[in-house]
Amino acid sequence: MADVSMDTIVSLCKRRGFIFPSSEIYGGFGSTWDYGPLGVELKRNIKEAWWRSMVQVRNDVVGLDASILMHPTVWVASGHVASFQDPMVDCKVCKQRFRADEVAGNRCPNCGGELTEARMFNLMFKTFVGPVEDEASVAYLRPETAQGIFVNFLNVQMTSRKKIPFGIAQIGKAFRNEITPGNFIFRTREFEQMELEFFVKPGTDEAWYHYWLEERMNWYRRLGIRPERLRLRHHSREELAHYSRATADIEFLFPMGWAELEGIANRGDYDLGRHSQFSGRDISYFDDETGERYIPYVIEPSAGVDRSLLAFLVNAYDEEPDKEGVRVVLRLHKMLAPYKVAVLPLSKRPPLVELARKVEALLRPHFMVTYDDTQSIGRRYRRQDEIGTPYCVTIDFQSLEDNAVTIRDRDTMEQIRVPIPELVDTLSHMLKWED
Ligand code: GAP
Repeated sequence: MADVSMDTIVSLCKRRGFIFPSSEIYGGFGSTWDYGPLGVELKRNIKEAWWRSMVQVRNDVVGLDASILMHPTVWVASGHVASFQDPMVDCKVCKQRFRADEVAGNRCPNCGGELTEARMFNLMFKTFVGPVEDEASVAYLRPETAQGIFVNFLNVQMTSRKKIPFGIAQIGKAFRNEITPGNFIFRTREFEQMELEFFVKPGTDEAWYHYWLEERMNWYRRLGIRPERLRLRHHSREELAHYSRATADIEFLFPMGWAELEGIANRGDYDLGRHSQFSGRDISYFDDETGERYIPYVIEPSAGVDRSLLAFLVNAYDEEPDKEGVRVVLRLHKMLAPYKVAVLPLSKRPPLVELARKVEALLRPHFMVTYDDTQSIGRRYRRQDEIGTPYCVTIDFQSLEDNAVTIRDRDTMEQIRVPIPELVDTLSHMLKWED
């Protein structure tokens, strides 16, 4: 497997329509990115894979889609108004801004100018709700999806009638006014999270914490992340966030080095306890089997969609020499690949194209399909390899006689011949989920 630079990934993403700089015709807008036709499919597939393993195949997790704007007291109760801040320094000469913990000494890493004293900077985006822009109308864009889950604990528990232990899962946008965004989509100010809050009985929290560490590592492994690029890092006591009893990061070896992909935390009863206190509502759980009432503890696996997407791209990128120079292959897990099948007529002659269009129409209701009839077949295979399409279906002159087509496998490059009436079943079998 090739080691790949961030520049190569950024350029592939731009060239093939995975990710574009946002507002590009206006010169871009710092650290904001738009997902193109292939990127949006990859992103949907990652979210689908997460939802499937965290919600669909389990009987102890239900979903939620809470709003981004929430009551401002939520962020006081959660501790974000007081504690969600980074120390920031400014360069007195070039005016560039840095996180104080990321620069050594008091000289600007950019121009060598003198830096200001460190000031605390709250990372939440502030906005105003309604026409009057005063203190009373301040609201925040949520900096994590988690709080939407905590404030809905009673609603979800009562309506779903789930008993502890159970979890609530959510995927959605979060916003942080990061001082130093960067490394492509690794750290941005607008991003998506996939979060599970798993509520357990106090005393069972440690066992569940370890359970979720293992589950989440396995999720990345099952989706093809190579073991040598994945590791678990336990936080030291000093490093723990204000709400956390224990935290570990799942880290991935990105082109810029090891960095956090997902955080798994034992949040204890901090969040439900604080929301009980600030809202005046009793957010506790009554265990009707033991007759006990308690505030559940929470284990939280919290992953970034965009970071996972970057990791899956870096992990999948491969190059190998071939007759034309270099063959670039994205060895994406087939369930993540943007297109599952490419339909390729061997030539542009009308009877072949006609049959190829029929095959395309046959497949479209079942799979994400792309169609390509330009340039040589070798070139077209390379184009599909480069975007990770697991299967190419080729329609050749013999297809007109035997009503069969060839399926080519991206990774083995092996080809099998399949009658057209059996094509949907064969591909469905090849593209079946394996949990
Ligand atoms: N609710 C807990 C929480 O939000 P976090 O470690 O701050 O924990 C969880 O964030 C995940 O969200 C991270 O592991 C990362 O994947 C993603 N994430 C956080 N900040 C991000 C940013 N600025 N850009 C992209 N992803 C980010």
